[in-house]
Amino acid sequence: MLTNLNTIFSQHPDYAIAAFNIFGYEDAAAVVAAAEELKEPVILMANRDAVVHMPLPVLGKIMTHLAEQASVPVCVHLDHSTSFDTIREAIEAGFTSVMFDGSQLPMEENIAITKQVVDYAHPLGISVEGEIGSVGYSDPSIQAKTVFTEPEDALFFAESTKVDCLAVSIGTVHRMEQQAANLQFDRLKEIRDKVSVPLVIHGSTGVADSDLTKLSQSGAMKINIGTSLRMAFGKTLRKAMEENPNAYDRIKLFQEPMKAVCQTAKMKMQTLQYK
Ligand code: G3H
Ligand code: ZN
Repeated sequence: MLTNLNTIFSQHPDYAIAAFNIFGYEDAAAVVAAAEELKEPVILMANRDAVVHMPLPVLGKIMTHLAEQASVPVCVHLDHSTSFDTIREAIEAGFTSVMFDGSQLPMEENIAITKQVVDYAHPLGISVEGEIGSVGYSDPSIQAKTVFTEPEDALFFAESTKVDCLAVSIGTVHRMEQQAANLQFDRLKEIRDKVSVPLVIHGSTGVADSDLTKLSQSGAMKINIGTSLRMAFGKTLRKAMEENPNAYDRIKLFQEPMKAVCQTAKMKMQTLQYK
């Protein structure tokens, strides 16, 4: 069933929900299958690359259709948007949740635009994620520096904007290929103690399995994972092509990568559901 973040958070307050970046039908279907097998909710997210690659209405239709048919709650979320117009377009395309990423803006500007997004989205039943501090990228071609979140700023941002969840920077880095991030659990606790809004951790491919479980136990509510599914899909596709050098039918070639994405998503979700 298609739902927004608030419904998922209220139904599952005890552990973090996995949010996966999705780039098309194959990974979306594989992630929903993983969630159904585990009987757990999941969040499908379209990031900026996906939105550049495929028109939002197409992505929206693929993800909302799969969500509506799913036997578990599925949220369809726009990830890392820096544009109010794109957010409006996503909501028109059926997304049930959006992130305004003002992490590279001065705080006043970040608050002002995030608040505008909240004022637009909330009356429509759409949940909104904001970001305070900045989670950087391991890819040097992406201009986004790491700025750790100060607990006082998180409180001020959450109260000023009324976001439904808040992305914080506590040591993760986007697009790491190894699970080697050095997390600041003390900082997370300080933020958690001050802020009641659900907290989001970005760049979670780089988080060790034991730390993923610990994040879930420490009050993080949404764990964003992208690179590890992209690696699972891409590496398995490469293997399938090497093993079948004469194959050209992509529906056949996609079978093993879809299974790999499903397996990886299940493994990450099991790591978070610590009960
Ligand atoms: O917003 C998406 C995530 O932060 C994904 O990060 O690709 O490093 O797992 P990741
Ligand atoms: Zn992110």
